[in-house]
Amino acid sequence: MAARVVGRTGRLAAVVRSSAVRLQSRLHGSTGLRSGSQANFFPPLEDAMLPSGSFNNRMALITGGGTGLGRAMTATLSQLGAQCIIASRKLDVLQRTAEEISSQTGNKVHAVQCDVRDPQAVSQCVDQIEALTGLPDVIINNAAGNFVCPSERLSPNAWKTITDIVLNGTAFVTLELGKRLIQNQKGASFLAITTIYAESGSGFVVPSASAKAGVEALYKSLAAEWGRYGHRFNIIQPGPIRTKGAFSRLDPTGAFEKAMIDRIPTGRLGTPAEIANLAAYVSSNYASWMSGAVTPDQWKLLEAMIRKTKGS
Ligand SMILES: NC(=O)c1ccc[n+]([C@@H]2O[C@H](COP(=O)([O-])OP(=O)(O)OC[C@H]3O[C@@H](n4cnc5c(N)ncnc54)[C@H](OP(=O)(O)O)[C@@H]3O)[C@@H](O)[C@H]2O)c1
Repeated sequence: MAARVVGRTGRLAAVVRSSAVRLQSRLHGSTGLRSGSQANFFPPLEDAMLPSGSFNNRMALITGGGTGLGRAMTATLSQLGAQCIIASRKLDVLQRTAEEISSQTGNKVHAVQCDVRDPQAVSQCVDQIEALTGLPDVIINNAAGNFVCPSERLSPNAWKTITDIVLNGTAFVTLELGKRLIQNQKGASFLAITTIYAESGSGFVVPSASAKAGVEALYKSLAAEWGRYGHRFNIIQPGPIRTKGAFSRLDPTGAFEKAMIDRIPTGRLGTPAEIANLAAYVSSNYASWMSGAVTPDQWKLLEAMIRKTKGS
């Protein structure tokens, strides 16, 4: 995977994209594979992929870490030695998750209440984190909101709610921590969980698609700008993974799930553990060269430039 690649406009390119999960969704319908065929041969593994202790002495903040994918990422990082802080609105949910994970891994998990839409709450949350663990080494912006709705029925308030959580929330958390990390001359790995339609767009989830695209622009920009401070910025675009939060709002009747699976070459949804392992790798020092990836257009440009080079 590339690091610090000069892009078309002369700026640094800056997105690392998820591998298999995104790829399988990209290949929808094009391979003719029957549902389940690949999954029968290669069942997904649930255990932590990295060596134990990979996150010893590391502090990790996971927004939305009380449920779904955030919870799975927290469990994996904690299992690998990290001290985790999980932050979202529902303190009771966070506390329950923190206790459960901590009792299984033996590592501390702190629960901090925070509504990422509110910059003042984010600032107070970071004060609390500094007091609990010091500034984190790993920041995972995972909190999000979404619901399925025809765009002609969207109210300004519905638009604002989703874009406030996804885009503004990610920006507030990233900027608040980034400023303090820079001031303290401390490097960090930032990871944002976006989605496959952040680039393509998608009907019926337009506020989410727009906000996730904004998150990607934010992370591409900061990968270029803040690399010099020791900050890495990466993005994972998961394909569909059954979580209560996502599926209850996006597929309340379950009708889309089967159609979706039939279009995925591997014949199944992803699992939270698969994203957790990918997130752990991207956030670890095994990926410390990884900050930004080359887009297909940039590859074309680079290839053309390389082909023009004589004598190599
Ligand atoms: N599951 C999928 O198929 C899928 C696919 C692609 C991308 N993703 C992405 O994966 C991430 C996790 O989603 P999930 O499926 O695990 O759903 P989830 O369980 O509903 O997770 C969303 C989390 O965000 C938190 N949150 C919502 N509003 C917040 C706010 N204002 N401030 C702070 N935290 C807030 C929620 O906690 P509180 O309610 O306590 O605030 C919750 O823990 C999201 O970014 C989602 O877009 C999921």
